Amino acid sequence: MKKEKKIIVGNWKMNPTSADWAKKIFQSTKKIAAKNDRVEVVVCPPFVYALPLSKISRGQVAVGAQDVFHEMSGSYTGEISALMLSDAGLTHVIVGHSERRKMGETDESVNKKSLAVLQGGLTLILCVGESNRDSEGAYLKFIADQIKSALAKAEKKHLKKLIIAYEPVWAIGKSDAEAMKPEDMHETGIYIKKVLSDMFGKEEASRVPVLYGGSVSPRNAGELIEKGNVSGLLVGRDSLNPENFAEIIKLADASARKN
Ligand code: PGA
Repeated sequence: MKKEKKIIVGNWKMNPTSADWAKKIFQSTKKIAAKNDRVEVVVCPPFVYALPLSKISRGQVAVGAQDVFHEMSGSYTGEISALMLSDAGLTHVIVGHSERRKMGETDESVNKKSLAVLQGGLTLILCVGESNRDSEGAYLKFIADQIKSALAKAEKKHLKKLIIAYEPVWAIGKSDAEAMKPEDMHETGIYIKKVLSDMFGKEEASRVPVLYGGSVSPRNAGELIEKGNVSGLLVGRDSLNPENFAEIIKLADASARKN
């Protein structure tokens, strides 16, 4: 049986503030990725760094975008399309990150962007996650609704290029002790697969990687992958710290080798 790779995505957000600095972080991530081949490493830098970084990636690190516009070309000042990203050598696009939703991104635009990414042949990293966990379980419906609306009109064949990044908003940008407990992640992961299975069928759903994101560090990454039973992690802050990101990649590689 073909062994599955773990997926580690670095979301640089609006950092770092110079191209030289970006290149330094990227080069060191590339070295670690080359040595840990049981991990698919994806780095999502700001748009301006994406093209030069994808040129030096040599296939060792995949380069992704943090956003996209839903049309492919035209009079949309300031926007960037999936076609352009693909032409620049990018392979992945994060859509629906909670920080963008907070800036006004609606379910409708998340849906349009998701479809544009999938139709453009890129891999969609769809972010979902609740702001609060209530004891009655309303957060589960919230997660299901986010997935259903984002993937409305998507087809079964698109699932091959889908990654779900589950990022509970309450766990993003906190101390690593405040990240989600692996046991809770395990349960939520099962629930996400169930939602996908109801929409697209069990077999297709079972192949969709589910990642965890929110205050991942070398201190909690191993447990989250193994006990949380996820296919990988979406890392914000620590993806900009080459030493910590290297540790996280190594932990993912070690975990992939166990299975
Ligand atoms: P964090 O960010 O790792 O800094 O919490 C994760 C994210 O927002 O993608």
